[in-house]
Amino acid sequence: MTVIRRISRVPNLLVLALAGASFFTWTTASADDIEDAIEYRQDALGVMAWQIGPLGQMAQGKREFDAEIFAQRAANLAAVAPLPWEGFVEGSLQNDDHGAETDALPAIADDRADFDERNQALVKETATLAELARGEDRDAMFEQVAKVGNTCKGCHDNFRAE
Ligand code: HEC
Repeated sequence: MTVIRRISRVPNLLVLALAGASFFTWTTASADDIEDAIEYRQDALGVMAWQIGPLGQMAQGKREFDAEIFAQRAANLAAVAPLPWEGFVEGSLQNDDHGAETDALPAIADDRADFDERNQALVKETATLAELARGEDRDAMFEQVAKVGNTCKGCHDNFRAE
């Protein structure tokens, strides 16, 4: 009985070992992969900035409020907010000797937990904004835009080069 069970476990272990191996090759990124990851995250951050632009303008009274545009942009922002972070792969920060242009400070590697907490906070705050944007409370929407903006800024102050 025990023997049979042990034997039947062998293929599972093999699968696990193979999965582990492919994960390993994926995380030890080549120079090209690192450049791709940097470009990817910068593009994703640029998409976020483009989506939040009109939200900030409406919140600051610099652009007429349009509930439909506001809700659409807020939903887009919430959809993109989880995406840039996977591009912060090992070896892709400033001074990491990859030759690509990046403003990502080495501090990210020193305090990854704080960095991840901040990007998770952004995911949460943008989700709240998208939810408020489907409602009627304009003051709450505008306040939430400021909260999201502060979440961007807080991370930039700590982890992005000037
Ligand atoms: C958890 C940290 C963090 C948060 C939150 C964050 N950013 Fe950034 N952002 C960075 C880092 C680090 C860089 C530098 C990336 C690089 O150059 O590789 C950056 C770069 C950028 C860039 C420049 C991209 C480029 O083309 O070089 C823009 C635009 C940007 N962020 C917008 C935003 C906006 C808008 C928000 C909020 C909605 C935001 N960021 C939230 C960390 C963050």
